[in-house]
Amino acid sequence: MRIPISVPFLDLVTPHVELEQELTEVFRQALLTAGFIGGPMVEKFEKGFAAFCGVTDAIAISNGTDALRFAIMACGVRPGDVVLTVPHTFIATTEAISQAGATPEFIDIDEHTYNISVELLERFLKEQCTWDKSKKLISRRNGRPVTAIVPVHLYGQMADMDSILRLAGHYGLTVIEDACQAHGAGYFSQRLNRWMKAGSMGRAAAFSFYPGKNLGACGEAGAVTTNDFEVADKIRILRDHGQSKKYYHEVEGYNGRLDAIQAGLLHTKLAHLANWNNQRRDHAAEYNRLLAGEEAVRLPYEPSWSRAVYHLYVIRTEDRDGMIDHLKKVAIGTGIHYPIPLHLQKAYASLNYRSADLPVAGRVAGEILSLPMFPQLTAGQQARVVEEILAFTSRIPSKRAEGRETSLLPTEQTA
Ligand SMILES: Cc1ncc(COP(=O)(O)O)c(C=O)c1O
Repeated sequence: MRIPISVPFLDLVTPHVELEQELTEVFRQALLTAGFIGGPMVEKFEKGFAAFCGVTDAIAISNGTDALRFAIMACGVRPGDVVLTVPHTFIATTEAISQAGATPEFIDIDEHTYNISVELLERFLKEQCTWDKSKKLISRRNGRPVTAIVPVHLYGQMADMDSILRLAGHYGLTVIEDACQAHGAGYFSQRLNRWMKAGSMGRAAAFSFYPGKNLGACGEAGAVTTNDFEVADKIRILRDHGQSKKYYHEVEGYNGRLDAIQAGLLHTKLAHLANWNNQRRDHAAEYNRLLAGEEAVRLPYEPSWSRAVYHLYVIRTEDRDGMIDHLKKVAIGTGIHYPIPLHLQKAYASLNYRSADLPVAGRVAGEILSLPMFPQLTAGQQARVVEEILAFTSRIPSKRAEGRETSLLPTEQTA
């Protein structure tokens, strides 16, 4: 009898086994030199990551949430400001905004890319904002000044940065990228006529190196990238108790430094990131091929200007919970990123959003399903995942046969 193989959602062991010697050497060096905080391992990683992203500066930070908070603060967002972002993201995006003293306001997502909808962003700026006497852009919703946008490059695909930057320029807003899921993702900028990397287009960007990310530490870690040396300096001060040199405190700051051991481990792994991202892209193409034509499944959409790095491979299907149950029974791991949009979370009840305010995010959250995706995923594992998805969907009566339009077609109305 054939024993079906189980497929984990994520395999974090294999890459560490493959790199065991190099990674162990990092620990050994740190122990032998007592180099635990700051120092050459941190500087080497910062230089390497800045070069990888195509920016002048990378500043290593304790985690992605702090990196985003420091980036928002260093870019001049002030307590009481409004920062625009999406409801379809991990809560760390809005935590960072709130912890910088600002208030998040949500723009709904695009039905196909799941990133911020530039049409809705433009409509919001035109119709939901007004200029006050001192030429500040004010949100009609809460009467506060709107000063920044945080687009999230969700699942490893960049938001439409040219359009966002054009609108930001027109309305005087700062753009800070949440690139926590997008290490190495590419965007073809029509404006610059070249491919750009995630983290190089906004005034600053935040990355997370949480273990499951495309570039993951062996613990907590993050970074800010920027081409603005003033922002870089401010972040270096903020992450280190507000000091410009030891015991000279410009401002009250934070303990937001990255451990040298984590920086060393990340530097070792950085050499493999481009290859791992290519493997993820290959796996995405293979899923697309194997699932092509399956009408109950909507595949991820990659616009021609995007080079996604598939931190997650996310499909949509109407009976998502049924599909999860089926895959669980046959030992295939899946995830939902994310089941409840932020505007409907208890934590943000005080913002007074209703589900009808951001309908796309609500609908998408009920249908998305993240399939196993990691560089070491084998062809056999992928074939197994697809075999079971098709076994499940073959039991769904065809809606077309009943003369109804399936809601998963790309022509779906978003209203
Ligand atoms: C979109 C997004 N923003 C921010 C973060 C925060 O990063 P960290 O967990 O390193 O604090 C994450 C990480 O999970 C994320 O996915």
